[in-house]
Amino acid sequence: MTLIAFALSCVLAAQPSTDDPDKRPAAAPDGKQLFAMYCAACHKSDRFHVGPSAVEMRKLYEFKPAEFMAWCKNPQPKRKGVIRMPPMAFLTDAQLRAIHAFVIASTKGKTEAKVKDNDKFRASPSMRRRPLVQRIFMPNAGPAAIAVAIDDRHHFCWDAGECRLRYVWLGDFIDGWPVWRGNGNALAKILGDVVLREAESPLPTPNNATRKFLGYRMRDGLPTFQYRIGKVEIEEHITRDRAPNTLARQFTLRNAPADWKLEFTSSERVAYRSSDGTFTGAVFAPAEDKRESFTVLMEITP
Ligand code: HEC
Repeated sequence: MTLIAFALSCVLAAQPSTDDPDKRPAAAPDGKQLFAMYCAACHKSDRFHVGPSAVEMRKLYEFKPAEFMAWCKNPQPKRKGVIRMPPMAFLTDAQLRAIHAFVIASTKGKTEAKVKDNDKFRASPSMRRRPLVQRIFMPNAGPAAIAVAIDDRHHFCWDAGECRLRYVWLGDFIDGWPVWRGNGNALAKILGDVVLREAESPLPTPNNATRKFLGYRMRDGLPTFQYRIGKVEIEEHITRDRAPNTLARQFTLRNAPADWKLEFTSSERVAYRSSDGTFTGAVFAPAEDKRESFTVLMEITP
C-alpha cells in the first residue's frame, strides 16, 4: 500500500463516531468489534502503527485492566515522535474492559513482527526520532494537505493541491482527534509554534503559472514531492540540516529556463542561505552549475 493510501485508509477507517454513545447498548460489549471501530486505525495486532501494537499493550497491561482503562480515558504523551493518543473517555468501563479482554486474548502467544526496512520509519517503537507523514485536514491549507513530522520538534504542512509548502512549526506535532472524530469539517490542531507561513512559494520568476502535483516518494522516511510548474518539473525534499535549528529544502529541477529564480517567503524567524547560488532578499538565483539541483537552508530562530 502506498503511503498516501495508508494514511487515507487510516483517516477513513477512523471515522466511526457518528453513533451516539448514549444509544449504544450497555450489555455484552463486543471487544473485537469495539477495537476495530475505535482503536484499529492506529493500533495493529503485532506491529507498531500510529501507536504501539496490541502485543505491546499486552506486555504493559495484561494483569492491569484498571490501568489500561485509565490510560484509554486519559492518555498521556509518553513516546517521542508519535502523535498524542486521543482520549477514549466516551467509551464505557464495560466497553473498555471488553477491549482489554480482546487485546489480551487476541495476542496470546504472539510476538512483535519483524518489519521491512521501508516500513521502519513508522513501524519501530524503538526509533524515537521516526518521521511521520499524515494525510489529514489541516488548518490554513487545502484539502490535500500533508502533515510531516521531520523529527520530534520540526514539522511542516505541504499542500499537494497547490504544490507548495504552507507552513513550518516547532514543538509537538498535531492533534488529529477533531478529524478522526469525523464531525464534518474539522481540522487537525497544530501543537506548536508556527515560525513560517509561506505565501505562494517557491514562486518562480518568470512565473509560468499552472502547478500540477505528480505524487511523492519516500526517502529516509520523508516524502520527496514531485510537481510541475508550467513546464518545469520539480522534486522537493524537506529535511533537517546538520546545522542546528536548520531545515534544508532540496530541489531537483528539470526543464528550468536559465533565468529561473525562486522567490521564498520572508519571515522574521527564518533566515535563508545557500551555497548553491545567491539570495537577493528572499529571491534565490541558483549558480549556473547548480541550476538542476540545489539546496536552500532555512535557519529558524527558535
Ligand atoms: C488516533 C490514533 C489512536 C487511536 C484511535 C487509539 N490510539 Fe492508543 N495510542 C495511540 C498512540 C499514538 C499511542 C502512543 C502514545 C504515546 O506513547 O505518547 C497510543 C498508545 C496506546 C497504549 C499504550 C499505553 C502505554 O502505557 O504505553 C494503549 C494501551 C492504547 N493506546 C490503547 C488504545 C485503545 C484501547 C484504543 C481504542 C479504544 C486506542 N488506543 C485508540 C494512538 C491511538
